[in-house]
Amino acid sequence: MDQSQNLKVAFITPEMAPLAKTGGLADVTGALPKYLSRLSQLEVTVWLPLYREVKKKNLNLKQLAGNVKLELLPAGVQNSFSIFEYQVENFKVYLIENDFYFDRDYLYGTPGGDYPDNGHRFAFFCLAVLTGWKLINWKPDIIHAHDWQAALTLAYLKHVLPNDSFYQKTRSLFTIHNLAYQGLFPPEILRQVALPFYLFNPEDMEFYGQVNYLKAGLLYSDAISTVSPTYSQEIQTPEFGFGLDGVLRKRSDRLFGLLNGIDYQEWNPETDPALPAHYSRQAPAGKFLCRQELLRYFGFDPQSKKPIVGLVSRLAGQKGFDLLVKSLEEILKRDLYLIILGTGEKQIQDMLLEAAKKYPDKFGLKIAFDDRLARLIYAGSDFFLIPSRYEPCGLTQMYSLRYGTIPIARSTGGLKDSIQEFDPERLEGNGFLFQEYETKSLLAALDRALSLYQRQPFWSKLKDNAFRSDFSWEKAASNYHELYLKILEF
Ligand code: ADP
Ligand code: GLC
Repeated sequence: MDQSQNLKVAFITPEMAPLAKTGGLADVTGALPKYLSRLSQLEVTVWLPLYREVKKKNLNLKQLAGNVKLELLPAGVQNSFSIFEYQVENFKVYLIENDFYFDRDYLYGTPGGDYPDNGHRFAFFCLAVLTGWKLINWKPDIIHAHDWQAALTLAYLKHVLPNDSFYQKTRSLFTIHNLAYQGLFPPEILRQVALPFYLFNPEDMEFYGQVNYLKAGLLYSDAISTVSPTYSQEIQTPEFGFGLDGVLRKRSDRLFGLLNGIDYQEWNPETDPALPAHYSRQAPAGKFLCRQELLRYFGFDPQSKKPIVGLVSRLAGQKGFDLLVKSLEEILKRDLYLIILGTGEKQIQDMLLEAAKKYPDKFGLKIAFDDRLARLIYAGSDFFLIPSRYEPCGLTQMYSLRYGTIPIARSTGGLKDSIQEFDPERLEGNGFLFQEYETKSLLAALDRALSLYQRQPFWSKLKDNAFRSDFSWEKAASNYHELYLKILEF
């Protein structure tokens, strides 16, 4: 890199808030570029597919190129794309358009399952990005690829374009947001997406008889990061490694755990337009009005003083819903309201709907993806439950804390790195943690939490500690900057 110029970092990601979101990855790729771009000597761009969800927003997009051909791809598969530019505050997003692949109802699949051509869709996206940089003449110093959908960029660079002078100095960082999602496809896919078949061996992308896209990110990047220090250790063990712990152990000298942040501008109880009233640590009265609104929304008595336990989540095995459902009867014996917002796997959805019918006076359930309601739950609840089996980082505990709501969570991954058990003697800590993935353990944490509800001075101090927790990207972005500089030296 020329010392007089900005460091150019290109994010490649399958989602980005607020344009296209299914979970926390979108929040990270929507916010981190903004905070990185505020640091001096850094220029960040983001590359994203132009999904239907983005098109529907009618944004002011500027077309930069049209009908570009991907010559590398074999005859008979989709090979043409366009590039659009969208300016977000202080950085640019480049959108790859191919309507056959991306103009669909969902990002990755319907509730019935993944789209069968996801392997082709995201290979296409990666190749288009590699071609797109040349067209707009923007040479990245660092490629920062996120999750399996972006991982093939690194396979193409290493095994298809190794002599391309445009990329001679380009370095790469691959970030794992969730090791469980790997992008597994049959061996034939390699030829169909223009990758050499010799990569189908255990030292490369082969994985128990299939091709593993995520493994390309782990093997062919200059460095790997994941989204919390604890998760970076956990994924090197068979319990959390999803079959890739060996690969990660081999690369442990290049594996870094950087805790995510959240966007304190976008998530702010003093200004959040989704809330019926605003509040802050110093002036918390508005939180009570949010609470009333939340109770009203679910048809409960708005004057009730009972504690509210909220939960906002993808309905996926990772998130601990089997434990929750198993514990539900016991949880609802306590004098409280439980409020859940989620979408995802049908089986979990059905279990929850069944339970909601049984406990109409205490259990409020909404099956939807609803950002406004999510914010009302963060603000209006007293506690926030996160029983995850594993959690790479988790952002919902950070949003809860930001909105003065106390997390009760399983002690794993980023939950462990962001929540400290409240100590009533020293009045320190911002939440409640449990270790064993068992009802007994969950209930013990819940009971510790409930025993302090509105009991002074504990309750005020606990809430104060929650409000004072700092997970702003201002703090966390500089860790990425340092890592980029380190990677340039590799
Ligand atoms: P993950 O990425 O594994 O889903 P995170 O805790 O990192 O978990 O991020 C979840 C993000 O998705 C948060 O912004 C949360 O508010 C949001 N979210 C999850 N489910 C819903 C939903 N049903 N409606 C609205 N927002 C949701
Ligand atoms: C993944 C993880 C979640 C993390 C998010 C953002 O979706 O499941 O724990 O917070 O990515 O990094």
